[in-house]
Amino acid sequence: MTQARANWSPAIETGLPAIDAQHKALFDMAASFRGEGDQIRVMKTLSMLSEYANTHLRDEEAMLAAIAYPKLAEHRLLHQQFRRMLRDLLDASRKLTLDEIADRIEDLINGWFYQHILTADAEYVDAVKASRTAPGTA
Ligand SMILES: [Fe+2]
Ligand SMILES: [Fe+2]
Repeated sequence: MTQARANWSPAIETGLPAIDAQHKALFDMAASFRGEGDQIRVMKTLSMLSEYANTHLRDEEAMLAAIAYPKLAEHRLLHQQFRRMLRDLLDASRKLTLDEIADRIEDLINGWFYQHILTADAEYVDAVKASRTAPGTA
């Protein structure tokens, strides 16, 4: 799987602070893999990134469920794809070199995840913001 890769930039901000903070944290974690020479530390970072990513996907799905987002099922399927790719990487990581792991992380975060934020995540932003300004809601 090869996609265009890009670093985090304000271009992918949603304007929802909690979501943006989680997105950015994942890019920061991904960037910490390059030039890392210690297998144990890389494995620890990888499992931290994976846990953090899963927390983000769960939080985002809960937020979308709370506003009865019409495309939630579709969005969940995309997240499932991402979870599967992360799990595959975790499973394969013992047999990979550190450079290979860094490459796969870049594919996932700077490739897939970046594109996901730009497309699928960007699509829910108006619905979430509308629900927050709707009369009678906090
Ligand atoms: Fe998402
Ligand atoms: Fe997201």
